[in-house]
Amino acid sequence: MEVFVGRFGLPVFRAGPIITALLAIVLSACSGDPGPSADSEQAAAEAKQMLASGGSVDGKALYAACVACHGDKAEGNRALGAPSLRNQQDWYLKRQLQQYRAGLRGSHPEDSYGMQMQAIAKTLPDEAAVDAVVAYIAGLGGKAAEATLEGNIKRGADYYSNLCGACHGPAAEGLDVLQAPALAGVDDWYLMRQYQHFRDGLRGADEADKYGYQMAIMARHLSDEAVLTDVLSYIQSLAD
Ligand code: HEC
Ligand code: HEC
Repeated sequence: MEVFVGRFGLPVFRAGPIITALLAIVLSACSGDPGPSADSEQAAAEAKQMLASGGSVDGKALYAACVACHGDKAEGNRALGAPSLRNQQDWYLKRQLQQYRAGLRGSHPEDSYGMQMQAIAKTLPDEAAVDAVVAYIAGLGGKAAEATLEGNIKRGADYYSNLCGACHGPAAEGLDVLQAPALAGVDDWYLMRQYQHFRDGLRGADEADKYGYQMAIMARHLSDEAVLTDVLSYIQSLAD
């Protein structure tokens, strides 16, 4: 936390508006998270149009609006920032769609990917449509996402068992009783972004987002990016 106050707080303030603007550009370039591209904006517009026609509770037909970004087997598309939706529990996928629809996720102005997904989730006609599309995704099965991070797996294992395993389960398989989702087999680059968003107040900042809020508090305990990479590499190593 101190690092961020130091880095983004006082020195930036003292530097004046032009340097602050330049710094903001440099920092956003460094984050490697440029936000939705023209391609994904177009896919979003098409998805919203397809869903707005409304009325369908056929999960497969509804999922047609998701394919452009999440892929026809829900394998995800990194270039568009859209994660694989496989290996995730149906209750978790459902809650996320509900959170987007309620404006509890994807409302922070710096969360450009979340905002994009929120707009699409809100175009799903009703709860029955949410249930149907989730049931379709859950039935797709499929392999775990490929690892893209290379951290120290052994060090990650120690941190994971001390800080994460109690909620996410010993094999990162998720714990239904605590409503903590599976992390093994989910895209590591996506988990990294979500973790950073929890930590930096872009996700789970609203107490009404009960489970997101819990994770946001938790995320403040580990702010070292190198250790986080280790933890996520360890989680990836657990995937089938
Ligand atoms: C324009 C591209 C696009 C389309 C179309 C799209 N998504 Fe997404 N989706 C995204 C992005 C980007 C994210 C990551 C958002 C974030 O970082 O919060 C996401 C995230 C999600 C998540 C959260 C996953 C998690 O692990 O928390 C779910 C669930 C989801 N999408 C379901 C759907 C469904 C169902 C559809 C079709 C009705 C759909 N998406 C259509 C881009 C898209
Ligand atoms: C107190 C229980 C708890 C602990 C401890 C915990 N988490 Fe979580 N975590 C959750 C819950 C609950 C959610 C679901 C939040 C939601 O519904 O938005 C979550 C969500 C996440 C997500 C988002 C997954 C996705 O698909 O979007 C990531 C990433 C994550 N946790 C990583 C970690 C890591 C890494 C640790 C250890 C450093 C950890 N968590 C420790 C409860 C916990």
